Amino acid sequence: MQVVHTVSGLRQMLGQHHSVGFVPTMGFLHQGHASLIQQARAQHQTVVLSIFVNPTQFGPNEDFEKYPRNLEADIRIAEEAGADIIFAPSVREMYPEGFATNIDVQGAALPLEGEKRPGHFNGVATVVLKLLNIVGAEAAYFGEKDFQQVAVIRQLVRDFNHPTRIVSCPTVREPNGLAMSSRNSYFSPEQKQRADVIYRALMAARDAYQQGERRSEAILQAGRVVLEGEEALNLEYFTLVDAATLQHVEVIGDSDHRLLVAARLFNVRLIDNMGLV
Ligand code: PAJ
Repeated sequence: MQVVHTVSGLRQMLGQHHSVGFVPTMGFLHQGHASLIQQARAQHQTVVLSIFVNPTQFGPNEDFEKYPRNLEADIRIAEEAGADIIFAPSVREMYPEGFATNIDVQGAALPLEGEKRPGHFNGVATVVLKLLNIVGAEAAYFGEKDFQQVAVIRQLVRDFNHPTRIVSCPTVREPNGLAMSSRNSYFSPEQKQRADVIYRALMAARDAYQQGERRSEAILQAGRVVLEGEEALNLEYFTLVDAATLQHVEVIGDSDHRLLVAARLFNVRLIDNMGLV
């Protein structure tokens, strides 16, 4: 496996590869990231992983500075999962002096995370478009863990006619159900244990649906009861949406639906989601 830090270096390396699978990340890799690499490995000749903590997707009071970083450990995990090339550019390499173009995403980017984190998806879309252009992959792999992010990226490539195919992969969880996340490293072991509350709430809501409930309010109430049982939790949103439009639904119909939740637990911000079936 090779590690490269510049766009020109990566382009030189990729010159001779034709079927490239791409996994964009912010590093501090875990088994969720590894699952994306493995999926790409199974489909392509060459797998490129990017590691870049993108400053433009963090708000002024968010955790850009303290976001966990460990390139050495990442190299080991990436290699074991089957990556061929790690692209780890500096901030200067991605945003050189004079950088002046930003994507402004609407549509799927507006509700939920878009409301709670203004500008976040503009930063995500801008860096992802840059990365897709730099790597020129056949397909790029994203996690369902960030359900709205996948919707935003799909909209981005559709709107800009980008030829890279977007593939979404299932959420990988800890044994207690907590969705794996680089930010879970902010928890103490006891806090991490208690963070299963999010998963338990999603399961309770899904159970209500599976027992025949079709009113969204009643389905969500089943989950809210669980969330209210954890005093260290501050709920930001818990909603049931149409999976395609991300608009809240009142009554479950035939289309695909998704439960989406965001909360602060011991002051760590968590997001998660689950289908109903
Ligand atoms: P990051 O949070 O590092 O996540 C990189 C990719 O891994 C994303 O597609 C994310 O959805 C996926 N992922 C994270 N946790 C996962 C889990 N438990 N199971 C499955 N997949 C998981 O998302 C970003 O970085 C950035 O916004 C990025 C797209 C790289 C743009 O900067």
